[in-house]
Amino acid sequence: MNIGIFDSGIGGMTLLCEALAELPMENYIFYADTDHVPYGTKSKEEVIGFVDEVMRFMTAHDCKAVVIACNTATAVAAEKMRRKYDIPIIGIEPAVKPALAASHGKRVLVAATPLTVREKKLRKLVERVDYSHLVDLIALPRLVEFAEHGDFDTGKAREYLRQELSGYNLENYGELVLGCTHFNFFKDTFRQLLPADVALIDGSDGTIRHLKEVLAGRGELEIGRGQAAPREYDTNVRYFCSGRELTTQAELEYMHRLHERLERMHNIS
Ligand code: DGL
Repeated sequence: MNIGIFDSGIGGMTLLCEALAELPMENYIFYADTDHVPYGTKSKEEVIGFVDEVMRFMTAHDCKAVVIACNTATAVAAEKMRRKYDIPIIGIEPAVKPALAASHGKRVLVAATPLTVREKKLRKLVERVDYSHLVDLIALPRLVEFAEHGDFDTGKAREYLRQELSGYNLENYGELVLGCTHFNFFKDTFRQLLPADVALIDGSDGTIRHLKEVLAGRGELEIGRGQAAPREYDTNVRYFCSGRELTTQAELEYMHRLHERLERMHNIS
């Protein structure tokens, strides 16, 4: 059986990379809903419809669990999908609580898509954990567009971020939460623009830990079932863009380059 991992686009690879490192024996279906990216600037109802379509695809492709590797889709659709589908659905959320715990009383800036920032799920989470009113929210929709166009090193993201962050006194912040999985592709740019003691944090490792616990609890983990060694890097992943499987060498090489970039970003904190 498979683990389905999906996002509106390539942001979901942040979780795929984490999952491949943690659970290398599993088989994965990675689904980027590129016909509908970005989710973060659309209406809640539209995004719920897209997510439902992806869930139908995942259940038709023998998935034992699905990871919503998209903070936006989790915020608007995870609960609805859990009521509708009979398999574990694990969603990523902005890591607000761990950020507050690590910020030593300094402010926390949560960067996400406009829909995540607007949604009551994030507002409620902040209300629940931000006793001292230290959290600020910022929407950075254009980073999604830059990531989808492969504009990682062209300077566009750097200029955009520089402008968007210019209204904040960054010295007051202890943590910046990457609350959209596309943002991990730009950790190097964030690092250049933020003071050295502002740490970057995201929810991907916690989400995959949770996936592991859920599968273990159901006796459905592949790990320890007698396979000797991890398989060769990502031969256990099938990649889809809105239902169309990526099979050409050029497409698969692009996915590999994205993996490599994310591995480099992973070491930046
Ligand atoms: N990567 C997604 C997230 O984590 C959404 C990006 C988008 O489609 O707007 O929120």
